[in-house]
Amino acid sequence: MKIGIIGAGNMGSGLGKFWAQKGHQLMFSYSRNAAKLQRVAEAIGSNATVGTPAEAVQFADVVLLSVPYSAIADALKAAGSLYGKILFSCVNALLPDMSGMAVGTTTSAAEEIAKLAPGARVVEAFSLFAEVLDSPSQRFDDQIATTLYTGDDEAAKQGVASLLREIDVEVVDAGGLKNSRFVEPAVMLLIQLAYVQNMGQVGFKLLKR
Ligand SMILES: NC(=O)c1ccc[n+]([C@@H]2O[C@H](COP(=O)([O-])OP(=O)(O)OC[C@H]3O[C@@H](n4cnc5c(N)ncnc54)[C@H](OP(=O)(O)O)[C@@H]3O)[C@@H](O)[C@H]2O)c1
Repeated sequence: MKIGIIGAGNMGSGLGKFWAQKGHQLMFSYSRNAAKLQRVAEAIGSNATVGTPAEAVQFADVVLLSVPYSAIADALKAAGSLYGKILFSCVNALLPDMSGMAVGTTTSAAEEIAKLAPGARVVEAFSLFAEVLDSPSQRFDDQIATTLYTGDDEAAKQGVASLLREIDVEVVDAGGLKNSRFVEPAVMLLIQLAYVQNMGQVGFKLLKR
C-alpha cells in the first residue's frame, strides 16, 4: 500500500516504521524543518520518501494525519483535496499544553477533520502511545492492547484496521465517526494516567463476554 504521512513526529514516524517494515511505501510530509523530514525518511530506509502534503495525498492510497490538533486546519489546507481518499487520523483534540481538550462530547477532532476535508473517508484510531510503538514489543506482558477505530465508511475502516493489525494490536470497531466524541476523552484519560498519575506505559484492553 502507498501511505502518505502528514506530520512526521512521534506518531507519523512511529507508525511509519512498522508499515515500512511490512513493505508499504511511505511519503512523509509537513514539517517546519525540511532537513528533519529528510532525516525521518532516511532513518526508515528505501521505502520512504519526502514530499509536500499535496504530493503525499496524490501518492497515497491511505493518508495518515498525525499533527497536533492546533495544526489540523493548516495541514489540511496544505494537503488540498482529499476527496475519495482514506484519511486515517490519530489526532486527539488536546489543548497545546495538554491541560484539557479543545472539543469533546458534542463534537470531536475526527468530525472537525471530516468537515475540513470534504469527501475524505475519515477513520480515526489512536493505536498505541508513541513510547509503546517505539519499544521492542507492543504487548503488555502477554496481553495485546485494544485499539478502537471509528468511521462512517466500511471499506475505509477495513483498510485502516488492516494497517493497525500490523502493529500488533487487537482492533475493535467502535462505530461511526460520531463515537469519536467519546473515544477521544477516553484516550485523554489514558494520557492523564500515563503522564499525570505517572503510571508509565498504559493501554486499553476491552473485555467482552
Ligand atoms: N504521542 C502519542 O503517544 C500519541 C498517541 C496517539 C495519538 N497522538 C496524536 O497524534 C498527533 C501527533 O502527535 P505526535 O506525538 O506525533 O506529535 P509531534 O511529535 O509533535 O508531531 C507532530 C508533527 O507535526 C509537524 N508540524 C508541522 N507543522 C506544524 C505546526 N504548525 N505545529 C505543530 N506541528 C507541526 C511537526 O513537524 P516539525 O516539528 O518538524 O515542524 C511534527 O513532526 C496528535 O494529534 C496527538 O494527539 C499522539
